Amino acid sequence: MSRRILVTSALPYANGAIHLGHLVEYIQTDIWVRFQRMQRHDVHYVGADDTHGTPVMLRADAEGITPEQLIERVWKEHDRDFKSFSVGFDNFHSTNKPENEALCAEIYGKLRDAGLIATRSVEQFYDPVKAMFLPDRYIKGECPKCGAKDQYGDSCEVCGATYAPTELKNPYSTVSGAKPERRQSEHYFFKLSDPRCEAFLREFTQKSGALQPEAANKMKEWLGEPGDSKLSDWDISRDAPYFGFAIPGTEGKKFFYVWLDAPVGYFGSFTHHVRSKGLDEKLLQDFLRPGGDTELVHFIGKDILYFHALFWPAMLQHAGFRTPTKIFAHGFLTVNGEKMSKSRGTFITAESYIQQGLNPEWLRYYYAAKLNSTMEDIDLNLEDFVARVNSDLVGKYVNIASRIAPFIAKHFDNRMPGVRMGSFSGIPVPADAAGLAVATAQSDTIREHFEQREFSKATRAIMEVADAINKEIDGFKPWLLAKEIATDPQAKVKLGQICANAIAGFQLLTIYLKPILPRLAEAAEQFLNSGPLTWKNATLPIDVEKFLPTGHEFGQFQPLMTRVDPKQIEALVAANKESLKPAAPAAKPAAAKTSEKTVETATEQPAHISIDDFSKIDLRVARIANAEHVEGADKLLKLTLDVGALGTKQVFAGIKSAYDPAALVGRLTVMVANLAPRKMKFGMSEGMVLAASGEAPGLWLLSPDAGAQPGMRIK
Ligand code: 2FM
Ligand code: ZN
Repeated sequence: MSRRILVTSALPYANGAIHLGHLVEYIQTDIWVRFQRMQRHDVHYVGADDTHGTPVMLRADAEGITPEQLIERVWKEHDRDFKSFSVGFDNFHSTNKPENEALCAEIYGKLRDAGLIATRSVEQFYDPVKAMFLPDRYIKGECPKCGAKDQYGDSCEVCGATYAPTELKNPYSTVSGAKPERRQSEHYFFKLSDPRCEAFLREFTQKSGALQPEAANKMKEWLGEPGDSKLSDWDISRDAPYFGFAIPGTEGKKFFYVWLDAPVGYFGSFTHHVRSKGLDEKLLQDFLRPGGDTELVHFIGKDILYFHALFWPAMLQHAGFRTPTKIFAHGFLTVNGEKMSKSRGTFITAESYIQQGLNPEWLRYYYAAKLNSTMEDIDLNLEDFVARVNSDLVGKYVNIASRIAPFIAKHFDNRMPGVRMGSFSGIPVPADAAGLAVATAQSDTIREHFEQREFSKATRAIMEVADAINKEIDGFKPWLLAKEIATDPQAKVKLGQICANAIAGFQLLTIYLKPILPRLAEAAEQFLNSGPLTWKNATLPIDVEKFLPTGHEFGQFQPLMTRVDPKQIEALVAANKESLKPAAPAAKPAAAKTSEKTVETATEQPAHISIDDFSKIDLRVARIANAEHVEGADKLLKLTLDVGALGTKQVFAGIKSAYDPAALVGRLTVMVANLAPRKMKFGMSEGMVLAASGEAPGLWLLSPDAGAQPGMRIK
């Protein structure tokens, strides 16, 4: 029976770039969604940018733009990144939209009518210069224990002490530098401590089956014993000025805390998806209200379990909405066994991964090979990444088609040779086809691994199939058979048999890999000339003659995937090293998001760099030995630079609009010699030449005074 599933991934904040940590979740969700679609289930996959709150407001302020402008810009970047990695949202929305506001107002109104909203006075830090209340994270001061300067209000990074923000000595606001005051203000609370919420949450977290076992256990701790509940009321309001939705009835003085409207954004996005595409309005009833036969599945990181497993379902339950069917939490990402780090170059953005020319499907495969259904952290080991992609994808899967396609083209008119049917364990498959027997026998197991989000088990099983098929090819030695064709008619029959078996196996492998590697699968489908493959073609019993009939014509074979060059990884890490990049918000671990608790805003960027920072840039005098146009590039010139003892370097420079290449040859200029080499469409660029420009058009290449020699260091 066809299932109806609404799937979500957590909403990324609208003030930061998508990085490899985020991508664990989006790739995990997307694989599951694609798998369900291949089972012919009816899936809606929605997301949105999480746009409200103090960080977005302050960041926009620091950039001199409105929050809406910031949101629009970041939305485009996020949309681009998701598309690059084939994360196929049906709708990617924004939480600051009317659908979301209406839903928040409805939920709040129902909770208030049910007696689940309370108000009381709260004391908070107030910045008298900015005239606003500040989350604790925006307060710094001296550690009360060791006196270290510039420590956050919760713990000291120097001595490790933990304390309350009020204990900081000489506290200051990181926004304005002013001394913060403590002020009282009235806040709105969702009464989670109400017995109705407690009873519901015990049932929801322990009995509904919505949570993974380890998540349910955590919730048990958080809930405490029955009769001794640890649930406290949840503060859902913030004072103006705050970028968010005004709480109805508060005359614009109070706003919903970002974490109230963020999960509602899932429903806002779905509502927009339905309405903007003119889908049946009934879907809103079926998916968002109780009593239907639909499923609501959230993929999240383990750090936001509290919000999704307690606040969100309690809100929904008491406001007349449906509650989640499943909440799937995953662990954090480490790179080479450590937190992502800007100084080590492992805080890698989606954009830079693409810019460095790496194939997004390599990452999709690697993550799949690491992911399982638990909340364990996963490690991206960069050496292992290269080895695994090259050996599994290129060396095993792609290799089958690369080995077999030439024989089919040359000896069988690029058509499927005939297959003699036999039987393995009762499953009809071609005779003598041990590899294909493994491929068919694994179908249900692989499907179940995908369903259970055991992607690492699925990839392992898939690669066992690929091994079996390659082994079979090795055993039959088709390259020898091909040589005997002229003299031995039986050789052609045998060659046809092995090619047919291998290609049928390759088609099954393509189906199994398709949720993980949609683009590679598409290229394989073109070669197979199969049309879009679904799991139906891999459902037992598999009849090869039906899905690849004798005489079926194949498409032209094109190389399906290139190997990862370890140099590309080196270049990626070098390009992400903070010291080589312009000042950016400080490093944070992959899991720590730019929330109000853990925030570094644009206003905190260091205004100065040290002389050590400057000396990391290797500036050199270079002589332009050659300059030429680059075919197909509007802005670039290709320069060959003589850098004295450093040899020659090739650099692509965006100076075509200002210089005739012939006029450049022989002149001296200044280059950055230790910029990480970058693979561009036209070749490697091994540095950068320096040029001045302003608002108006025009570019001026820098030159040293006469007498400077190529290779001289600029200090
Ligand atoms: O932690 C985060 O990155 C949040 N922006 C996730 C929000 S998910 C949902 F609740 F909206
Ligand atoms: Zn300290």
